[in-house]
Amino acid sequence: MTILVTGAAGFVGAAVAAALLDRGEAVLGLDSLNDYYDVGLKRARLARLEGRPGFRFLRLDLARHDEVLALARSEPALDRIVHLAAQAGVRHSLVDPWSYLSSNVTGHLAILELARRLPRLRHLVYASSSSVYGGNSKLPAAEDDAVDEPLSLYAASKRADELMSRTYARLFGTPMTGLRFFTVYGPWGRPDMTPFLFTRAVLEGTTITLYDGGRLQRDFTAIEDIVPGVLAALERPAAADAAGVAHRLYNLGNDRPTWMRDFLAIIERACGKAADIREAPVSAAEPKATWADLTLARRDLGFDPKVPLEEGLPRFVAWFRGYYGL
Ligand SMILES: NC(=O)c1ccc[n+]([C@@H]2O[C@H](COP(=O)([O-])OP(=O)(O)OC[C@H]3O[C@@H](n4cnc5c(N)ncnc54)[C@H](O)[C@@H]3O)[C@@H](O)[C@H]2O)c1
Repeated sequence: MTILVTGAAGFVGAAVAAALLDRGEAVLGLDSLNDYYDVGLKRARLARLEGRPGFRFLRLDLARHDEVLALARSEPALDRIVHLAAQAGVRHSLVDPWSYLSSNVTGHLAILELARRLPRLRHLVYASSSSVYGGNSKLPAAEDDAVDEPLSLYAASKRADELMSRTYARLFGTPMTGLRFFTVYGPWGRPDMTPFLFTRAVLEGTTITLYDGGRLQRDFTAIEDIVPGVLAALERPAAADAAGVAHRLYNLGNDRPTWMRDFLAIIERACGKAADIREAPVSAAEPKATWADLTLARRDLGFDPKVPLEEGLPRFVAWFRGYYGL
């Protein structure tokens, strides 16, 4: 039996694929290797997977839905899917909205259509995002809170994924679990995210833009905690809920919201250098705070985040220095 991991050259996808291979699973990794950020980093993540027993890679854009559906015939052994490919990033959705529709809506639909055609499929796990909570003021955010006020097209596309998935689970009975990740960071992370941007700026001595004077809060979650959460979800195919629909949603976060100013201070300590800070007003697309209520994930998945920022951020900085030779 084989697990399809989409976004396998991405930050989370490469880490999940590696953990599945560690368990002796067969993994078909899929990724378009698009150039939203440094393709060299994506290839370097992939290079760590290629050649490992059980791993195969397919370069494909999910928006090419006919080619995605052809996998139902060419890969009949697929019995689980971890769908992590997406156009990520909140701010970029103000710059290139079309890529969000193509990857996150058309691409997600391609995976749903593939899933219903796979005769052996047991479970589809897919990435949603804490950004679906939008401008909600209730904290911590829980899965049954209202999610009707997305602040960005990225958030709207992730909410659309949740709704499309629930519809397909209802219509076709495919068990599905959506995971709302809260700002994931760690080694091999994403260059458009603050851990990366801040670390590079501190080490290179360039100016950091701190939105709202650092008075934003984020529930940063270490990749070392996210990966076991994804695997725990994958192991437990969603059972039908009270409405008879085998679809569930879980927050995967850290339950420890941190002020951005404090976050930057940890990076400064890990780099041994002070940051050059410029303050700027925050974009209307960014929530003021994120904070995951983990009650459901703890109860159903045994999810238990262990890595505090004081431990995870220095580990990230050490990786960054080694990888970029800084
Ligand atoms: N990292 C986070 O903090 C975070 C937070 C919330 C949600 N998420 C979600 O988790 C998932 C993984 O995020 P990540 O941080 O690893 O992002 P990433 O950008 O590193 O990985 C996504 C991968 O998907 C690939 N991809 C994009 N569009 C594609 C398409 N149309 N067809 C095939 N491949 C495509 C990209 O090339 C990339 O390698 C995404 O769905 C993202 O929206 C991430």
